Amino acid sequence: MKKRILTGDRPTGKLHLGHLFGSLKNRVALQEKYETYILIADVQALTDNFLTPEKVRENVLEVAMDNLAVGIDPAIATLCIQSLIPEIAELTVFFSNLVTITRLERNPTVKEEIKQKANLFRGGVTMGFLGYPISQAADILSFRAEVVPVGADQLPMIEQTREIARKFNLIYEKTFSLPKAEVSKFPRIKGLDGQSKMGKSLDNAIFLADSQQEIELKVMKAFTDPKKIYKNDEGHPLSCAVYQYQSIFSENEELVDIKNGCQKGKLGCVECKKNLMKKTIAYLEPIQNKRHYYEKRPNLVKEILLTGTKKARKITQETMAIVKKRMKIDYFD
Ligand code: TRP
Repeated sequence: MKKRILTGDRPTGKLHLGHLFGSLKNRVALQEKYETYILIADVQALTDNFLTPEKVRENVLEVAMDNLAVGIDPAIATLCIQSLIPEIAELTVFFSNLVTITRLERNPTVKEEIKQKANLFRGGVTMGFLGYPISQAADILSFRAEVVPVGADQLPMIEQTREIARKFNLIYEKTFSLPKAEVSKFPRIKGLDGQSKMGKSLDNAIFLADSQQEIELKVMKAFTDPKKIYKNDEGHPLSCAVYQYQSIFSENEELVDIKNGCQKGKLGCVECKKNLMKKTIAYLEPIQNKRHYYEKRPNLVKEILLTGTKKARKITQETMAIVKKRMKIDYFD
């Protein structure tokens, strides 16, 4: 029997190159070897977007289409919607007995996000947001998943999930195996500004669905080595955002030429950017063609999500029957 994967995305925006290399390529590569479930985590998205639910709603289909566009095959992998799987919410309640507030406050990913969302949480952090690692543990464990492909930023979440599983097993009875993170081999890619990681809210991302013109404009404005002002200046590729993308999209030999040309003042930034635009557009073309296919067929995408969610619930319902038995609340079974 194949081991089971559970992974997920928050539907708060379209997916971009950071997602592609950080997690999507990894899950596409694993979908044949594992029984794969991909959760569109709308409940989690609402923990910091509760004021703008329409944003979450709009992006459920977008994120599903992004997954399909990069090669998730609905015939072998299952896409499903978190809010339509109430067993996850139920399990979250039971798990919340096993986690202290201080433990949640120590979670580095949550800590970092609270800092970034200082505005939203000015009056205090909500229980929903502080507790979302518990809900993410419920995502993973309600599927009894053994492998969780994620970007490196999600490692603290998997660690916390393992703690919860361990504690549940100890207090009640051995029920869950401890899931393992499977981290993407690609390093985290920086945004077009060259400063921070690519993020949908930072205005520094190339989205999988960006048009040719958008890609051209974005690449033209991308951050390059500030010390290279004229073509003939010696450049420093390692501190250049454009070079970082060149290193993803170029063959080895070509990359060496770009690096040498830049360093020796033979290759100017404009020429280098034009070259990168072409490569980015060519790289995204098959993904976009597939995306267009699904964009024209929203009912097909909805059907995939509905069928997937039904299939997913069979598993989560089984899990809850076991959990309730172990917790001695299976009164009428
Ligand atoms: N927290 C993840 C992110 O921000 C999304 C997510 C929700 C997830 N549930 C999950 C990832 C379960 C892995 C497993 O990207």
